[in-house]
Amino acid sequence: MTLTAVRPAQSAGYYLDRVARTLEAAPLPLSGEIHAGVDLGTSTVVLTVTDGDGLPAFVATEPCEALRDGVVVDFGGAVEAVTRLVETAAAGTGHRIGAAAVGYPPGIGPSESRACRFVLERAGLDCTALVDEVSAANAVLCIGDGVLVDVGAGSTGVGIFRGGELVGVADVAGGGHHLNLILAGALGTSVEEAERRKRTDGADHLPILRPGLERIAVSIDRLSTGHGSLPVHLAGGGLMLPGAAEVVSQYLAREVVEYPHALYITPLGLAWSSQ
Ligand SMILES: Nc1ncnc2c1ncn2[C@@H]1O[C@H](COP(=O)(O)OP(=O)(O)OP(=O)(O)O)[C@@H](O)[C@H]1O
Ligand SMILES: [Mg+2]
Repeated sequence: MTLTAVRPAQSAGYYLDRVARTLEAAPLPLSGEIHAGVDLGTSTVVLTVTDGDGLPAFVATEPCEALRDGVVVDFGGAVEAVTRLVETAAAGTGHRIGAAAVGYPPGIGPSESRACRFVLERAGLDCTALVDEVSAANAVLCIGDGVLVDVGAGSTGVGIFRGGELVGVADVAGGGHHLNLILAGALGTSVEEAERRKRTDGADHLPILRPGLERIAVSIDRLSTGHGSLPVHLAGGGLMLPGAAEVVSQYLAREVVEYPHALYITPLGLAWSSQ
């Protein structure tokens, strides 16, 4: 499919910082056109709203284990999460969100990807675009030649870009949730506690998490076979740990590019894809 999305005038980091700032400050009053995107994930559902110029105006997240291995496994839960997010966005922006673009994980079939659209429609939204997640992410990152890797909670998705065109996609299990399992086992805590500690003192736990990070690096290497000379760009929250990108770069002996607030790259690209 041809993806029509807002073309960024500033760097990816500029827009990602603005997304993060919408979490800290009260949303500014919005006038004119708005665009929304919904990212259904393994651990969270994210709704992002931009103004007509593509500037991030609002973002909200609901915990929801809607997807597993790229498939919608909790349809009702996903619908409820999207419905709550739409209500929160209406209260925050003063706008009714009537339509949005939705993403689907790379490498899944047409019927599975349609399930993502049905979630939106059941939540009362028109689906303006059904976009694979790596294309949405690249609307923000604008990679010409490179490997875009979206490491989420449950999966590692890869898109290969050559001359700005998406020439290959693939997806395997493995992400932030698996790092939590490793940390919980090593520290003797619950998975929830491991998630909390990973976020608060991630750097301290890097030695424990190194084998898990190297496992993700192996997946990236396998999923980008034949494209080993291309730099790797990291989207998604799974590798937001301080030092993680360096571990992956050392293991692969490849250039790895990381971005601030990487977990909002795909959600922002989805809002930009909703024209
Ligand atoms: N500050 C942080 N430090 C370390 N890990 C983080 C941080 N913030 C989020 N994460 C991790 O990011 C993951 C969630 O990322 P993301 O929102 O991209 O996943 P998802 O879209 O729900 O999952 P998937 O793409 O696999 O379906 C979780 O595993 C979480 O632990
Ligand atoms: Mg995701």
